[in-house]
Amino acid sequence: MKRNFLIFVVSILITSSCYYDNEKDLYPVSNFNNCDTSNIVFSTMVLPTINSKCNNCHSEVLAPELGGHISLENYENIKYSVDNGSLWGSINYFSGFSPMPPENRLDDCSILQIEIWIKNGAKND
Ligand code: HEC
Repeated sequence: MKRNFLIFVVSILITSSCYYDNEKDLYPVSNFNNCDTSNIVFSTMVLPTINSKCNNCHSEVLAPELGGHISLENYENIKYSVDNGSLWGSINYFSGFSPMPPENRLDDCSILQIEIWIKNGAKND
């Protein structure tokens, strides 16, 4: 009995010591270092990301079939999803939201730029 317990403890120690978090493995596309956060403008820094990463499903035309009827094609539609919290929740893969894009999470820099834009009032600039 005592021996089994010892084996149990030792095996926990061995297996847990083999576990480590490698930042590069966890965040392979992290490019914070050269992330431009100086002048965040909707039309040149947020909309292009949404057009290239989201509107292959969420454009006005495709949304009914591919984007759950959620259009992200223009400012008004995007602002609606910002105001109800779903855009922020989904691009961060927060629980309670559908992860967006469903595959290939946005890179850290794009998420940071969207965060700054939202914190600055999500203006149509
Ligand atoms: C491959 C298609 C596809 C892509 C690409 C995609 N979406 Fe979606 N999205 C969907 C579908 C389908 C739904 C509705 C079903 C669901 O919620 O899973 C949805 C739902 C959403 C919702 C509502 C989620 C919720 O939990 O209420 C938001 C917000 C959203 N998408 C934003 C985005 C954003 C922002 C991007 C780009 C960064 C994106 N989506 C990329 C297909 C896509």
